[in-house]
Amino acid sequence: MTGQVRGVQLARLLGQWHALPGRRRSPDYAALAGSVRGLLADGRLPLGVRLPAERELAEALRISRTTVTAAYRQLRETGHLASRRGAGSWTMLPGNHRVASTGLWTPLDDREMLDLGVAALAAPPQLLSAARAAAEDLPRYLSGAGYHPTGIIELREAVADAYTARGLPTSADQIMVTSGTQHALDLVLRLALAPGGTVLVESPTYPNALAALAGRRARITTHGLAADAGWEPDLLLGSLRQTRPKLAYLIPEFQNPTGHLMPAPLREHVVAAAHAVGTDLIIDESFVDLSMDGTEVPPPVATYDRHSRVVSIGGMSKPYWGGLRIGWVRASAPQVQRLAAVRVGVDMASPVLDQLVAVHLLADAEAIVADRRVQLAVQRDALLGALAHRLPEWRVTVPRGGVTLWAELDGPVSSALARAAEEVGVRLAPGPRFGLDGTLERFLRLPFTLPAADLVEAVGRIAAIRYDLDRAGRQRWREPAVIA
Ligand SMILES: Cc1ncc(COP(=O)(O)O)c(C=O)c1O
Repeated sequence: MTGQVRGVQLARLLGQWHALPGRRRSPDYAALAGSVRGLLADGRLPLGVRLPAERELAEALRISRTTVTAAYRQLRETGHLASRRGAGSWTMLPGNHRVASTGLWTPLDDREMLDLGVAALAAPPQLLSAARAAAEDLPRYLSGAGYHPTGIIELREAVADAYTARGLPTSADQIMVTSGTQHALDLVLRLALAPGGTVLVESPTYPNALAALAGRRARITTHGLAADAGWEPDLLLGSLRQTRPKLAYLIPEFQNPTGHLMPAPLREHVVAAAHAVGTDLIIDESFVDLSMDGTEVPPPVATYDRHSRVVSIGGMSKPYWGGLRIGWVRASAPQVQRLAAVRVGVDMASPVLDQLVAVHLLADAEAIVADRRVQLAVQRDALLGALAHRLPEWRVTVPRGGVTLWAELDGPVSSALARAAEEVGVRLAPGPRFGLDGTLERFLRLPFTLPAADLVEAVGRIAAIRYDLDRAGRQRWREPAVIA
């Protein structure tokens, strides 16, 4: 059990439940039950939460209690609700439905495949010159042993300066360099989470974060993001207060996969609520540099933190190149020291040469990142144009940054579509990979990290199979491959 949802909160989530398209002949109780099932399937209503008492929901929806009673009965019959007399009713899915969100890794060596499973850009042209300059710097480090558990000082200073420039004064001893953001997350979890500890995550969220949490045997609770509006402040703050998780893992800038940007007031409220209930926040800033359309990014979440509740993680992979494997943690200096002690038992330190490459790239950050933003905006617009042309039934909220959009499909077909797409040379990351328990089948993450022509081609192939999906039928087991 992960908390409860109040009548007014559920009423807000249900929205226009009584006026859904195609319900003309169904009675109110069936429409209400159908809407609750829809919220569960879309990950907006978490599994294992207690629904409001019948009377409370009836009042919030201004309908008769008999309608709610009948709707709850139907939900019990379809396996979406478990009730215990006198205790309440909890959400569930029929038949223990569960899709594992593994981070299975098989290198993709099929060059004909258009890979929309990975949301990362190819390296920028400046990478080679940065690597050459790094090689020239290397002799400065060769007289030492080369182990720097918190990272080489030049890189820590460069990362700290970037935080300071964003309005968050930071010194080098608050930075630990890691081998990618994923590594940063794993180290923070090792330090901050005992097995079985509770962690609140967004739904949908980044699948490899779920894999890291599974690795630490975390108990996960979710906050469902609205496809069009993102975080629901009351519900998010309510979940924190009710669940009192040990940690919350959030991606406030151009969230992966939805692309949403958390506004400044909510950042402040989340930090205050987290502090009030003793929750530490892991803030994943992977996409913070990649805003588009002149969108201003609010201050870093850590700006509102006065009690060392916030640990920020980020890295080079999205603006620069994933192959560098350079990320970092920003925390208090004592936390960084504790993380370094944990790290000694894991990988000791990051490669010096790669860190030097990162130093050179960060020295040229302004120009490189400006190019990336332009490139991503062009690719995003090509993808949006192709979707509007070839799959007009799909709904998308235009992301103002990041590298992904979250398409709402015309049916719960995401996994079937991904299987069929492989047959026509397109690899997709279906919606359920971004959630728990096999929900999110009506959604598909589409990254715009491939060249525009490839994106248009991929959408054309997806559209061709979408319309005869039911006849495609053949479902062969494919090798698993990485989603990033
Ligand atoms: C939100 C988020 N966090 C972390 C990562 C992993 O990044 P890295 O390559 O730096 O380990 C990704 C990569 O897709 C991501 O989207």
